[in-house]
Amino acid sequence: MTQTVHYLKDYQAPAYSVANTDLYFDIHDRYMVVRADLHIQPQQPGAPLVLDGSAELLSVNINGTEVEDYTLADEKLVLAQVPSEPFTLSVETLIRPSENKSLMGLYASGGNLFTQCEPEGFRKITFYPDRPDVMSVFTVTITADAARYPVMLSNGNKVDGGTLSDGRHWVKWADPFAKPSYLFALVAGDLSLTRDTFTTASGREVAIEFYTRAEDAGKVDFAVQSLKHAMKWDETRFGLEYDLDIYMVVAVGDFNMGAMENKGLNIFNTKYVLADSRTATDADFAGIESVIAHEYFHNWTGNRVTCRDWFQLSLKEGLTVFRDQEFSADRIDHGTCRIDNVAMLRQHQFPEDAGPTAHPVRPAFYEEMNNFYTMTVYEKGAEVVRMYHTFLGEAGFQKGMKLYFERHDGQAVTCDDFRAAMADANGFDFSRFALWYSQAGTPVLDVTGRLKDNGDYVLNVKQTVPPTPDMADKQPMMMPLKIALFDAQTGRPVAFRRPESDTAQTEAVLAVTQAEQEFVLHGVGVPVVPSLLRGFSAPVHLNYDYSDEELSVLLSADTDPFARWEAGQTLYRRAIAANEAALREGRPLPQHATLLKAFEYVLDADISAGFKAMLLQVPPETELWADGENIDPLLVHRAREALLDKLAVQFKQHFMALNEQSAAKEQAADEAVRYEYSPELAGWRSLRNICRAFVLRADPDHIRVVAERYAAMVKNMTHEWGILSAVNHNPHDTRNQLLAAFAEKFSEDALVMDKYFALIASSHRNDTPEQIQTALAHPKFSLENPNKARALLGAFTRNVPHFHAQDGSGYAFIAAKVMEIDRFNPQVASRLVQAFNICNKLEPTRRELMKAQLQQIQQQSGLSKDVSEIVGKILA
Ligand code: TRP
Ligand code: ZN
Repeated sequence: MTQTVHYLKDYQAPAYSVANTDLYFDIHDRYMVVRADLHIQPQQPGAPLVLDGSAELLSVNINGTEVEDYTLADEKLVLAQVPSEPFTLSVETLIRPSENKSLMGLYASGGNLFTQCEPEGFRKITFYPDRPDVMSVFTVTITADAARYPVMLSNGNKVDGGTLSDGRHWVKWADPFAKPSYLFALVAGDLSLTRDTFTTASGREVAIEFYTRAEDAGKVDFAVQSLKHAMKWDETRFGLEYDLDIYMVVAVGDFNMGAMENKGLNIFNTKYVLADSRTATDADFAGIESVIAHEYFHNWTGNRVTCRDWFQLSLKEGLTVFRDQEFSADRIDHGTCRIDNVAMLRQHQFPEDAGPTAHPVRPAFYEEMNNFYTMTVYEKGAEVVRMYHTFLGEAGFQKGMKLYFERHDGQAVTCDDFRAAMADANGFDFSRFALWYSQAGTPVLDVTGRLKDNGDYVLNVKQTVPPTPDMADKQPMMMPLKIALFDAQTGRPVAFRRPESDTAQTEAVLAVTQAEQEFVLHGVGVPVVPSLLRGFSAPVHLNYDYSDEELSVLLSADTDPFARWEAGQTLYRRAIAANEAALREGRPLPQHATLLKAFEYVLDADISAGFKAMLLQVPPETELWADGENIDPLLVHRAREALLDKLAVQFKQHFMALNEQSAAKEQAADEAVRYEYSPELAGWRSLRNICRAFVLRADPDHIRVVAERYAAMVKNMTHEWGILSAVNHNPHDTRNQLLAAFAEKFSEDALVMDKYFALIASSHRNDTPEQIQTALAHPKFSLENPNKARALLGAFTRNVPHFHAQDGSGYAFIAAKVMEIDRFNPQVASRLVQAFNICNKLEPTRRELMKAQLQQIQQQSGLSKDVSEIVGKILA
């Protein structure tokens, strides 16, 4: 019987370690023969040797002698009797990369060969103890036709190579650092090379090599520069230097995720490497900078110190996301980057934490590990790391990092080891903090504040952690609550004194540890508005019964950008909820007097364009209904649209003026520097695109003017995308003409065509379902390409009025595509099916429609573990 569920509590150290792994790849057109020589050291002599593998097995040898006494079942090769002294096991397998559409293991894309081994892809290539706590020193020899595969890459340094008589050539790579199998990589094919160099702080020169298709070579420069910025930043902020003589990045168009940190040989989705201003938006540039940095930072947090088992995935991912967030914040701006992180967490992680697939940052069990590369492990995991940082400060956090590397460099460790390093380096008690790794669900803080006669201000904090499907009863967590006080009249910061200190302060980090606690702030004396959870100091829901006026004070006077933004978000949420109630009861919509005043204040405020753009963003539906029950998606949608319509009409003149002002700012900057990505210009463009959307909302006929000026306005993709997004729901045929011209103009650019397909799938127009059918048959569309599937189908699942269509047609469409994709790429299918996570929170009619689709998927024969695990949880 195959084991279906894997439990953290069952962890056992490996019975055999592999000191050296020597791989030989003999590449042919339709197949490949792989020999793996494993230099094995018994740790528990006498134990059976169990290797993971699903490739076609050709032969097994021990110390040069063929072995026939083994069992092969359920993707495990078991040798009951092996030597008790170190020995060499040699395994030969045959694989067919061109038939592999799962994009895990070794696969072909555009005639070239690539690997993706994390988490369990290596076993598709050969038989191996495919687990991260088996760390081995690899050498890799590749032989192939020299004309078809001029480039042959693997991890580490190229140490040897030569040509053979039959038009073939060979190369040998050696990686001096021991690593687990999931960090192995191989690339072979015809790729063009862009070179650069980086000199480390200690003066070593590192060769930088970026490999792309020849026609894309002109678009790697920004990614190369991003890498160099990341290398420098890791030296200055974390004291971490690169450790090999070469760093390679390869871009591939068919890739299941964003990128992969294979030692010395990162493999990237083209989306996170290729950019120029004609084809990439400012957001794309920012994404590239952050993903390039993320993978680079893994070299220390992930590769030098890796995970003991896959339950510990957040050890490397949460920490590395925290590091890339800090990198982007240092490069761009801490306030706006923090707001971006929080918006993302709320839109995607909070719903996950409140739904059927909720799991802790360190899951306790899984069926398919690929299902646990989640928002919770990555983004909530980063919040958990950030909380150490908030408690300890930068210096204390870095002390903890230093001890972590001193203790664990070269090891495979756990989240508890990381927590111990942070605690021990600082003499700080983080024992209660461990609950963040074992309890799922977003905690709720209910806070009240009162001014006492003696001038003390008392905050009462109640904490509850909601039940999740895996755990009913939770314990109170430990978290930092960052606070400040503002004078209710003047908006000025008010100083206070904490009982344990003599000095006055204007901000404090309160340690919340219990179900209910009181915090006393001495010497306040005047009525104040508390600013709570500043910088979003913990990943929680916070309730405080602010009046609209108090929120306006925070919006205009708070010194923390997140807190200002949050005050505005609360006003929007209240206004949408009021609209929803009015729509439900058939009453006229409310006037939203306070919100309109606040909105006007923001429009006129003397703040950066990027920050202003963020303050003008109304929370999306997914966030609005994250904790709802009996949700009617269209009612929430209409309530939100009604608010946007009102703002558009009310402030049309403002938006037109602000649009002009942004255009002028950009032009002035443009004349100084040729267009390139810069955070400041990106802020103006982002503001301009928001204004464009509001103007077109207020006056749909304005599309004619836009169409006339289109060619003159689109100096770069950020404008082009902004304009097309703004007209995308427009009922006029002009919208179709603009989109068609766009698809025509960029038909040869795969990444821009992804944008086209996403626009088609996102439109609220009535004819969107038909337009999607046309798109599916478009010569540039392919369901086998994950970027394309995500662009069209992923975007459709976020298109509220169409995905949640009353008749269930949206659900049926996605269910059919899930089943179709699952036959060749379970990972992509499994992501897509999670659009149904909301099932049990929907109003009864839609709930039943969605359930019926899920049951159909469940009955599909040959369903993958990936999809079956998710569907099982939703229907449980
Ligand atoms: N470790 C990769 C990252 O940084 C994640 C990843 C890339 C991945 N490709 C994958 C995970 C394929 C699973 C499957 O973040
Ligand atoms: Zn990562």
